[in-house]
Amino acid sequence: MSNKKPDLRSRKWFDNPDDLEMTALYLERYLNYGLTIDELRSGKPIIAIAQTGSDLSPCNRHHLELTKRVRDGIIASGGVPLEVPVHPIQETGKRPTAMLDRNLAYLSLVETLFGYPLDGVVLNIGCDKTTPALLMAAATVGIPAIAFSVGPMLNGYYHGSRAGSGTVIWAARQDLAAGKITADEFLDIAASSAPSVGYCNTMGTASTMNSLAEALGMQLVGSAAIPAPYRERGQMAFETGRRIVDMVHEDLVPDRVMTRKSFENAIVVCSALGGSTNAPIHLNAIAAHLGLPLTNSDWETFGYEIPLLVNLQPVGKYLGEDFHHAGGVPAVVAELLRKDLLPHPDALTVEGKTVAELYADFAILTPDVIRTTDDPILERAGFLNLGGNLFDSAIMKTSAIDDEFRGRYLENPEDPMAFEGPAAVFDGPEDFHKRIDDPALGLTEASILVMRGAGPIGYPGGAEVVNMRPPSYLIKKGVHALPCIGDGRQSGTSGSASILNASPEAAAGGGLALLRDGDVIRVDLKSRKVDAKVAQDEWDARRTELDALLATLTPESQSPWQALFREKVRPFAEGMVLDNATDYRSIARK
Ligand code: FES
Ligand code: MG
Repeated sequence: MSNKKPDLRSRKWFDNPDDLEMTALYLERYLNYGLTIDELRSGKPIIAIAQTGSDLSPCNRHHLELTKRVRDGIIASGGVPLEVPVHPIQETGKRPTAMLDRNLAYLSLVETLFGYPLDGVVLNIGCDKTTPALLMAAATVGIPAIAFSVGPMLNGYYHGSRAGSGTVIWAARQDLAAGKITADEFLDIAASSAPSVGYCNTMGTASTMNSLAEALGMQLVGSAAIPAPYRERGQMAFETGRRIVDMVHEDLVPDRVMTRKSFENAIVVCSALGGSTNAPIHLNAIAAHLGLPLTNSDWETFGYEIPLLVNLQPVGKYLGEDFHHAGGVPAVVAELLRKDLLPHPDALTVEGKTVAELYADFAILTPDVIRTTDDPILERAGFLNLGGNLFDSAIMKTSAIDDEFRGRYLENPEDPMAFEGPAAVFDGPEDFHKRIDDPALGLTEASILVMRGAGPIGYPGGAEVVNMRPPSYLIKKGVHALPCIGDGRQSGTSGSASILNASPEAAAGGGLALLRDGDVIRVDLKSRKVDAKVAQDEWDARRTELDALLATLTPESQSPWQALFREKVRPFAEGMVLDNATDYRSIARK
């Protein structure tokens, strides 16, 4: 016991000379499966592996295998690994939405990391919400933390063409609605897009958030993009385990890595990736837990002008394996560095070095998959931050706007950035599915689809339902997308022109609650304004009649957590964090 390090917090449990009785109690039960007194009292850092893999979480399930190599790395570097369970957050399996459980997994991991004898943590990230939940918890607890991606699935193929997660389903459902394919074919197409372990192989929320965890400096260089089944993934697991032990000795805590600088870098990388519209919610949340205010306006300021470099579905052509072979995140960051587009090359990473030191020498290996800044897919790929009488803040990913939409709405020479049309208002996804194909709605190619009651309070957690398709009678006429506005989210794997995450939401009395069918909405992207063209006195009068509507927009909670969540949740623009939770920071260091 001569080499023990008194600064390790696990010593308070396992080696407290003032209270041998408690030390004995804390120690003895960890011995009952084979750990020894000497291991726990030898001064070795005790490292948690926050395990998000399980049978309920197929995207992250491969972590169960990879964790063996993380353990090997921890032991090789002189640490003691303890695998700890994280509340499951499976994007595709959890009802009403996995987003509801992001904050629950966050809360429970905070208690776990804070309340047990842990000196550092490996965050097993992957499926959409696992990355933000674990980074939020690391921010609150403040012990050294390193993220480790499970990696994307291999490329999917259907009849020889790439079939990307989610994206192929959004496309095939149109063929199904138009009667071009059978229900069985539809399911076959879906299955073809999931060929192996790992998370979504498109640039949806998972690939975005795993890439941004690297861009924030929280993963080893190159860790984000390696496909789950590749040997390099297991090798990266070993290196990650080795590194966290050194990070504990160096006291390299999360708020030294995740700084204002690294968030601004991550926003820039998000644009270059064509990242998901869920990213602002999650990064704003992680930043809030670090005491760093980050807003949708920051996303526009730092991200909007950045070119789109990564040619991945849903915006582009390729999938996760292609991205890895093209050089992954390091190739993107190096290209941004070369053009001075990354605002803070001096930001620190978990490797204890700066972004410039670590990334400058990487090259793009497959030029059509990752473009150079001289030959981008799009000049401006970031998000616009919009506001008006319908909401204070909502974001629009202009890179997702397809050519058909551009032709129909945006190439009016008199006002190339503005369009308007009558609203078709749906109160939640069930209302949408019930009524969208009803010819009595009389939708035209000028209509704007609006979804409300889909925000954090209205559809507890905030549903990914704003990617609404046109009615089948318009699809048959060749209209494949209508503009959408909503207080819910959109799946990162879909690609329609949508104004999303409107805050405050209708169920909290936001302006969308006052909107009625047929009201003309004007969207002016140049002035960043979205307004219902309704006379002010009429608008005010509607507000006095709101109560009945708000009741229908907030259906009864189905579980205790839904009820607690709704009482405490902040709007999407503020990261959908829990009220007051952000008051607690680096609690393990107090
Ligand atoms: Fe889990 Fe996409 S559904 S990563
Ligand atoms: Mg998703």
